[in-house]
Amino acid sequence: METGKVDVLLGLQWGDEGKGKVVDVLTPRYDVVARFQGGPNAGHTLEFEGQKYVLRSIPSGIFQGGKINIIGNGVVLAPDLFMNEAKDLAASGHPLFERLYISKKAHLIMPTHRILDKAYEVAKGKDLVGTTGKGIGPTYTDKTSRNGLRVGDILHDFEIKYLKHKERHLNLLKSMGWTDFEGFEETEKQWMEGVEYMRNFRFVDSEHVINHTLRAGKFILCEGAQGTMLDIDFGSYPFVTSSNTISAGACTGLGIGPNKIGNVFGIMKAYCTRVGSGPFPTELFDKTGDKLCDLGHEYGAVTGRKRRCGWIDLIQLRYSIMVNGVTELIMMKSDVLDTFDTIKACVGYELPNGEAIDELPYDINDVKPIYKEFKGWKTDMTRLTDETQFPKEFNDYVKFLEEFLETRIGVISIGPDREQTIIRK
Ligand code: GDP
Ligand code: IMO
Ligand code: MG
Repeated sequence: METGKVDVLLGLQWGDEGKGKVVDVLTPRYDVVARFQGGPNAGHTLEFEGQKYVLRSIPSGIFQGGKINIIGNGVVLAPDLFMNEAKDLAASGHPLFERLYISKKAHLIMPTHRILDKAYEVAKGKDLVGTTGKGIGPTYTDKTSRNGLRVGDILHDFEIKYLKHKERHLNLLKSMGWTDFEGFEETEKQWMEGVEYMRNFRFVDSEHVINHTLRAGKFILCEGAQGTMLDIDFGSYPFVTSSNTISAGACTGLGIGPNKIGNVFGIMKAYCTRVGSGPFPTELFDKTGDKLCDLGHEYGAVTGRKRRCGWIDLIQLRYSIMVNGVTELIMMKSDVLDTFDTIKACVGYELPNGEAIDELPYDINDVKPIYKEFKGWKTDMTRLTDETQFPKEFNDYVKFLEEFLETRIGVISIGPDREQTIIRK
């Protein structure tokens, strides 16, 4: 029996590493691209031929003609937001009906899930997670408590099921004392329109599609959303998202046996960012942080929120590489560091008692980063076309990262455009 291969691509930091761009670049090597978790909390940006696109629920393989894209069972989908996203793509000349399959087992984010998301955040007060407000947590909560509404439900008695879930949510909101339902009717109308629109797509048992594809000797790329430090188990809990963002999530989110996974591509920025609340050991509160934010245009693709910025954290990355089984690293946004005199990388943490450690501890709230400094390369790298053109200082930095992380960096991204990508030999 011929068998194909599954590779997984995911974020190693706190999201927004540049996953969308790399999926688009790598798609020509694959037959199928599949999302396995998350939902419209994601914002994956792609740039090519002078156009910029931001994808939320639709896989980033959609632009490289003729490939099948799958929204897997592990994803949570908001019909209204999905409809807007798909219609925008169609309007820009990228119709999806033939190319995009949706798992019947994917869960639906209801309008009341979004209100619940807000209500839980308000209830947390100053400890709020800083969610994207897209209803992600409440939808996954309903999934695990066996109360979810799935894409497959659209096909039978949908209205009855919807109203039952809505009533349960309204009771919950009432018990929390929530009274703000402004715009709800309009949202609900849009949402129902979205459900009707979704019927234009093929609802599939994506685990069968995926495994048939593999048996036919074809190649699949799984596209992660968020990042390892936002993983529900291994991230900086409770300041995380509600799904498994790590490579294991591709198995549960698509129905793939772990023995089918080949490469795990770990995406990281040459520095680090985070949106929302929660610990971030290398965060910078000074001019250097502002400079990273400005040069990196670090504003959220979904919420427009300013991203917190800091130096690359190799202790955190080593942990992410471990829990994901990363086989190859892909470094993004190295161009953002092009003008820095000095570049720092965190190579250890100091605990409040003065002890130095080199493994990510249970609690990263009070650790102080220990830095190694590098001489900046002070060269505009955005127009380079080949790794032989890299400045010496940049090569020194890359070599150190590879040695410290014990993993090869196979691709270096030197700008947002598809073309600004250097594949290392
Ligand atoms: P994702 O969520 O991991 O797909 O990443 P986002 O799209 O949220 O954020 C990455 C941002 O960086 C986007 O605005 C990209 O266009 C941009 N980007 C990606 N790679 C590079 C790069 O190498 N250099 C620069 N300057 N920007 C990049
Ligand atoms: P992509 O795929 C960055 C963050 C939110 C918040 C926490 C929980 O573009 O990398 P949620 O709405 O998921 O319940 O929010 O997770 N978060 C992201 N941060 N990139 C993302 O996705 C994110 N998705 C969620 O800011 O702190
Ligand atoms: Mg993003």
